Amino acid sequence: MIEALNDQFRIPGHLQFDLGQGGLPRAIIENDAARGEIYLHGAHVTSFQPRDQADLLWMSSDSNFSDSMPIRGGIPICWPWFSHHPTDSNLPQHGFARISAWEVQGVGQDSTGAVTLQLGLSDSDATRRWWPHAFQLTLSVTIGPTMTVELQCCNTGDQEFGMAAALHTYLGVSHISDVRVEGLAGRSFIDQLDDDRLHIQSGSLEIHRETDRIYIGTEDDVLVHDRSSERVIRVAKQGSVSTVIWNPWIDKSRRMADFPDDGYETMLCVETTNAASDERRISPGQEHRISQTIGLFAG
Ligand code: BG6
Repeated sequence: MIEALNDQFRIPGHLQFDLGQGGLPRAIIENDAARGEIYLHGAHVTSFQPRDQADLLWMSSDSNFSDSMPIRGGIPICWPWFSHHPTDSNLPQHGFARISAWEVQGVGQDSTGAVTLQLGLSDSDATRRWWPHAFQLTLSVTIGPTMTVELQCCNTGDQEFGMAAALHTYLGVSHISDVRVEGLAGRSFIDQLDDDRLHIQSGSLEIHRETDRIYIGTEDDVLVHDRSSERVIRVAKQGSVSTVIWNPWIDKSRRMADFPDDGYETMLCVETTNAASDERRISPGQEHRISQTIGLFAG
């Protein structure tokens, strides 16, 4: 399989496929600006490292790498529902896109050297066990000085469907207590740890406890200021006006088997989503695109 992928899609010196952890197929992208890794399982970006910088993404050292389990860290793709399934708790949390095998659809490189990989997933007997609709998903990952991840969702059936989505991004930080998040001030949020009550964010956000919030009406860039590393990570987005902020803190980190006990200290999830009131309805033949661009903020 790897040989066939390389024969068809390899860009010499810039994109190649190999077997990653757990023997799962993975694309490695490299150019003058950055290096990235994307697993076909879940269309899951596990690394984005601008040149001479630490990875912008956090990966769990205890992650599973198996074709039936989600990868912990990087950017899980949550679709077509977010969190628990609304009516059936037996269905996989955060949908099935992150535990499905995606196919390579194409690769490209533009005149600046940025490299794009496109992966696809469409309905099959396996997906119809979980969700009855016909669809085509395309995930495009472009790696240059910044990384853009776009999920395109098409309704290829003859009935309207509703969908939620999350580019569930685990950002790496030097220490959570040194982090300040800007771009959410004045927005309301659903506090998933307070019976889904609505609150308003006043000023910037610092994390001192377990945090699990869906911010609504979020159009601005989110800036994650990391005092110790003196880095600012910017998350800009389109097709999304909701943002989830998640940090499991101490007890929940201990409860998760695929998450190191101290993992909460060096990560923060800033998730570009279509969640809660930002879920979308897609008519037959129509599509929705949700995308985010992540990079270091110089200004
Ligand atoms: C977040 C949710 O997006 O994902 C949290 O808001 C959840 O409630 C977290 O705990 C991790 O989910 P999972 O399924 O990857 O453990």
